[in-house]
Amino acid sequence: MTLIKQLKLSAAVLALTATTAAAADVEVLHWWTSGGEAAALNVLKGDLESQNIGWMDMPVAGGGGEAAMTVLRARVTSGNAPTAVQMLGFDIQDWAKEGALANLNDVASEGGWDAVVPAALQRFSKYEDQWVAAPVNVHSVNWVWANKKLFDDNNISVPTTWEEFEAAMQTLQDAGVTPIAQGGQPWQEATLFDSVVMATGGPEFYQKALIDLDPEALGSDTMKQAFDRLGVIRENVDDNFSGRDWNLATAMVINGEAGMQIMGDWAKGEFVAAGQVPDEDFLCFRFPGTQDQVMFNADQFAMFDQGGTVSEEQAALASAIMSPSFQAAFNVVKGSVPARTDVPDTDFDACGKKGMADLAQAAEADMLFGSLAQGHGAPASIKNAYYDVVTAFFNGSFDSETATEELVTAIEIAQ
Ligand code: GAL
Repeated sequence: MTLIKQLKLSAAVLALTATTAAAADVEVLHWWTSGGEAAALNVLKGDLESQNIGWMDMPVAGGGGEAAMTVLRARVTSGNAPTAVQMLGFDIQDWAKEGALANLNDVASEGGWDAVVPAALQRFSKYEDQWVAAPVNVHSVNWVWANKKLFDDNNISVPTTWEEFEAAMQTLQDAGVTPIAQGGQPWQEATLFDSVVMATGGPEFYQKALIDLDPEALGSDTMKQAFDRLGVIRENVDDNFSGRDWNLATAMVINGEAGMQIMGDWAKGEFVAAGQVPDEDFLCFRFPGTQDQVMFNADQFAMFDQGGTVSEEQAALASAIMSPSFQAAFNVVKGSVPARTDVPDTDFDACGKKGMADLAQAAEADMLFGSLAQGHGAPASIKNAYYDVVTAFFNGSFDSETATEELVTAIEIAQ
């Protein structure tokens, strides 16, 4: 065979391979870039590769997903939507309203999703009774992560009330330890405030103020008290908090530079990635005053419509995400709990088991609340107004009275 023919043959083979590979690739836009998040994501990538589906990674760094959603808007506007996108709550609903998401009903009925996904999640995974996203997990924000050695060395027991929490912070302060590791970014400050509002006013107040957006509740003395408490927490944060990424705050607790972090249970993934074990190296407990509630945010993958139907790869990705074995393997690493209620807690550590028990109990007792800061309380415009006021307060621009007034105005304007 002449050289020319050989080159033509190899070019043809290459083209065929490339076409085959491209046909089975999914491009996934997400913001899982920390150690723990990447470790969890590798479980999904591996799952898909075992089904011969290639993964084109589109990571957009920036905890909480704000940056990722900005990049997504640019991609869709330029007519170049990714195959699948990590999304939260109301953002899924907004894209579904635009008609941008593929219909996953066939995959969902094949997988029996309706029977195993909690109603609180289906409220976000479906639009007008059509499945438009596959839920990966259930995270919750009302957690505290503590360095066990610092608690033991300073005789601090797990606080169950605000007063005990204040005393724990004071003891750490007196011991010369930063009590609270905090990342100074609006989404983190607002995620913290979700728990403070719940603890201060209770579930009915949280519902009325941050879900129903009742102006009286938003402008109440209870809300002012919540801001006062946020101010106390602010006094227990180190001077270098501004701009700090959430996982670097978690690292401060892991390394014993700080006593506690108030953060969603994606923080658990960082402890796991650092080889730390619950009740030996770190403690996980509900933010004091929210022990009976679960304030959730679920990560879901929405599939962007590739011309009217769901593609083979999108269907394979969606069913891989919802397989019970993946739901266990992924969530064990991620720090969240499965989106399916039929996954046993066998593989989960003590914090994971607690998270699963809390979720089941809260669902039973109607104590499941969407986190406003994490896109499960109200649409993005309201969430962003909330961020603006809370971060202004946390950074000293407002006192608690002004912050309370500003919250009413900002949310009214954003509606
Ligand atoms: C949340 C997301 C989590 C984790 C966290 C920090 O919005 O649900 O999976 O990524 O942000 O980035």
